Amino acid sequence: MNSFDELWSELEPIGRSATTGGYRRFVFDTAELDCREWFVSTAQQRGLDVETDRNSNLWAWWLPDGIDPAAPALVIGSHLDSVPDGGAFDGPLGVVSAFAALDAVRTSGVVPDRPVALVAFADEEGARFGIACAGSRLMTGQLDADKARRLVGRDGLTMAEAMSAQGFDPASLGPDPERLARIGEFVELHIEQGRNLVDQGAAIGVAESIWPHGRYRFTFHGVADHAGTTRMRDRHDPMVAYAHAALAANSAARESDSRATFGRIEVEPNATNAVPSTVRAWLDARAADQQALESLVERVAHGATVGANSSGTSVELATESTTPLLSFDVPLRDRVAAAVEGSGACDVVPVLPTAAGHDAGILATVGVTTAMLFVRNPTGISHSPDEHAEPVDCHAGVEALAAVFADLTR
Ligand code: GLV
Ligand code: MN
Ligand code: MN
Repeated sequence: MNSFDELWSELEPIGRSATTGGYRRFVFDTAELDCREWFVSTAQQRGLDVETDRNSNLWAWWLPDGIDPAAPALVIGSHLDSVPDGGAFDGPLGVVSAFAALDAVRTSGVVPDRPVALVAFADEEGARFGIACAGSRLMTGQLDADKARRLVGRDGLTMAEAMSAQGFDPASLGPDPERLARIGEFVELHIEQGRNLVDQGAAIGVAESIWPHGRYRFTFHGVADHAGTTRMRDRHDPMVAYAHAALAANSAARESDSRATFGRIEVEPNATNAVPSTVRAWLDARAADQQALESLVERVAHGATVGANSSGTSVELATESTTPLLSFDVPLRDRVAAAVEGSGACDVVPVLPTAAGHDAGILATVGVTTAMLFVRNPTGISHSPDEHAEPVDCHAGVEALAAVFADLTR
């Protein structure tokens, strides 16, 4: 038995809603700060050197005696924040498994031949400020620091204000080439967010690629008016335009085997008995290749324009973030799969594409040698309180990660 269960039970209550059972761990809020505290104390109990980098990502270093501290490090970990009412596993499984794998490696007596770091990237979900993988994007120069500081969160505070309020320095945000250069490989373990592994009867998989994806903000402008006295033909109702866009997203994604989701809208004035003045709606779009993604977004934009024209309203479209197609390093992927198969954690390790974004993808985009391990999810459900992985598969994940850790550092 490894230390996974104990670590998991320490982290599990933090930020869980008593009403929904979902997690609300948003960057720089109380629950997320509590998760950070857990990370720091867990690392300190293990004698690791903990630091928060200039982009508020957390690092815990194991620098065994006698190694070259400047040698390229093996980095393992994931993230601790969640989407609104997210599941327990997306992110934390990778961080808890990293600590448990470290414990297992130490127990087995293996001493790495180079530095090892455990990492928890900040704001992977972008739930508060809208841009996913903000911590790794900032570190790699894929998110401009000024733009990040000015992002306005759901509570009206900018990222700079939210950081300052919690004792982080927003002036320090920005590219971190020295830290990036210290990473030899990054291996992120993550719950699978689909049913590939369960369908193939495998506990563990490795990532092949990440679909290109993006987030787009549609703002529909109309005229607020009385819901009872305004005749239907006199209205300028932006909700009608939004509805056209939502239907266009659904049919375009179905027809192209892509993904399009409007999962968040804001309505002003948000009154039952008023025609709205404004509807803001966020599209999350993903497709197997760049061209398919672009044509998907074009079709949704066209639907929005048709809806706006027919409802006497107008629409503006802003791209909030985009992430290109990413293929993981094949030699590392094969080595990781072989180490897992050799460990007995999983006999045959499937290679899977995913349509979910990850910090591993952001690092790989700038040339960091990166791999991902997936742990079976019996229902495939994710970004939901119902997200689940069986304890036996979580333990297999730790065994797999420990085998990869030992293999890559000997
Ligand atoms: C990250 O979880 C994503 O939204 O892909
Ligand atoms: Mn997620
Ligand atoms: Mn995740």
